[in-house]
Amino acid sequence: MTAYLVTGGAGFIGANFVRLLADQRPSTTITVLDALTYAGSRTSLDGLASPRFAFVHGNIRDAELVDQLVAAHDVVVHFAAESHNDNSLRDPSPFVDTNLVGTFHLLEAVRRHDRRYHHISTDEVYGDLPLTGGDRFSESTPYNPSSPYSATKAGSDLLVRAWVRSFGVRATISNCSNNYGPYQHVEKFIPRQITNILDGGRPRLYGLGANVRDWIHVSDHNEAVLRIIDDGMIGETYLIGADGEADNLTVVRTLLHLMGRPVDAYDLVPDRVGHDLRYAIDASRLRRELGWAPQFTSLEQGLSQTIQWYRDHQEWWRPQKAATEAKYAATGQ
Ligand code: NAD
Ligand code: TYD
Repeated sequence: MTAYLVTGGAGFIGANFVRLLADQRPSTTITVLDALTYAGSRTSLDGLASPRFAFVHGNIRDAELVDQLVAAHDVVVHFAAESHNDNSLRDPSPFVDTNLVGTFHLLEAVRRHDRRYHHISTDEVYGDLPLTGGDRFSESTPYNPSSPYSATKAGSDLLVRAWVRSFGVRATISNCSNNYGPYQHVEKFIPRQITNILDGGRPRLYGLGANVRDWIHVSDHNEAVLRIIDDGMIGETYLIGADGEADNLTVVRTLLHLMGRPVDAYDLVPDRVGHDLRYAIDASRLRRELGWAPQFTSLEQGLSQTIQWYRDHQEWWRPQKAATEAKYAATGQ
C-alpha cells in the first residue's frame, strides 16, 4: 500500500485527483488535508470512506500537524492554495500565507522525513503572451508573474527548486493551464457563466472578451500528475496543457449555444486590473518523455459534459452562488 497525503483535496482539482486515485489505484490509501476555506467543499469527497480514505480538517500553515501527517505518508501531493486572481487583487494576504508560508512548512516536513513530493502549479508563473502570434510557454520560459496570485505561486515553485538543490528533497513540479470540469467553484470563469445561465442570467465578460486561455479538462490534468509522480525525473518541471486555446468570447458564445440561448446574450463588464492577455502551453516534453496525451480534445465536448454536471448538481453549487456574485458586484463585474 502506498500512502498519499493530498493537500487541498476538497478543492476543485484536488477532489477530482482524489477520486481518480481512489478509482485507479486500489493499493493506495489517501488522506486529505484541507482547511475548508470558502473554496473547499467536504461534499466534493462524498462517497469516499475509511479504511482507504481519511479527511483531516486542518491548515497547511500548522507546522506541527503538517509534520505529523507527512511523517505518516509516502507521497505528498500539494494542491492547497488560494487560487483565484480576482480575490488576490482584493486581498493578497491569504495568498502569501497559504501559497508561500504553507508550502514552506510542507517542504520542511518533506525534507525532515525524506518523502516524495509533487508540487501543483500554474502556467501563470510565466506571465502572459501577446494576443497574436504562436509563442507558447515551455519549461525554459523565464518566470514573470503578474498578479499576487501568480507571484505567490511562482515563489512557491522557487522554494521547491531551492529545497531540491539545497537539501536533496525528492520533488517534481507541474505547471498546468486553465482547468475546467466538475466541482469547480462558481467564482471561476466557466462555472460562473454556466450557473448564471442556469439561473436565467447572462454571462459576464471582462473587457471585450479577447483574452485567451488554454483550456484543459481537469481529468487530463490529473492523469498527467499521476504520470509525473510515477515516472517524472526528480527535480524537474513539466508543463501540462492540451492545446485548448480559446478566447473568452468564444467560450461564452459556445456555452450560450450549447445551452440553447442566443449567442449574443452576454454582458461586457469592467476589465480585470493587469489582466493577462494570453496563456498557451507547449506540453511536448510531457507527451514525449512520459507518453501522456489528453482524452478531451474537443473543448465543445468537454463543455457539454461540464454543463450537464452543473445542471445535475445544483445542490453542490447553489450555496456558494449568492455570496460569490455579491463579491463581484462590489467591482461592477
Ligand atoms: P481551489 O481554490 O478550488 O481549491 C483549493 C483548496 O485548498 C480548497 O479546498 C481550500 O479549502 C484548500 N486550502 C486553501 N488554503 C488552505 C490552507 N491554508 N490549508 C489547507 N487547505 C487550504 O483550487 P484549484 O483550482 O483546485 O487549484 C488547486 C491547485 O492547482 C492550486 O495550487 C492552483 O494554483 C493550481 N492550478 C489551478 C488551475 C486552475 O485552472 N484552477 C490551473 C493550474 C494550476
Ligand atoms: P479565471 O477563471 O478567473 O482564470 P484565470 O484568471 O486564472 O485565467 O478567468 C479566466 C478568464 O476569464 C480570464 O481571462 C478572466 C476572464 N473572466 C471573465 O471574462 N469573466 C468572469 O466572470 C471571470 C470570472 C473571468
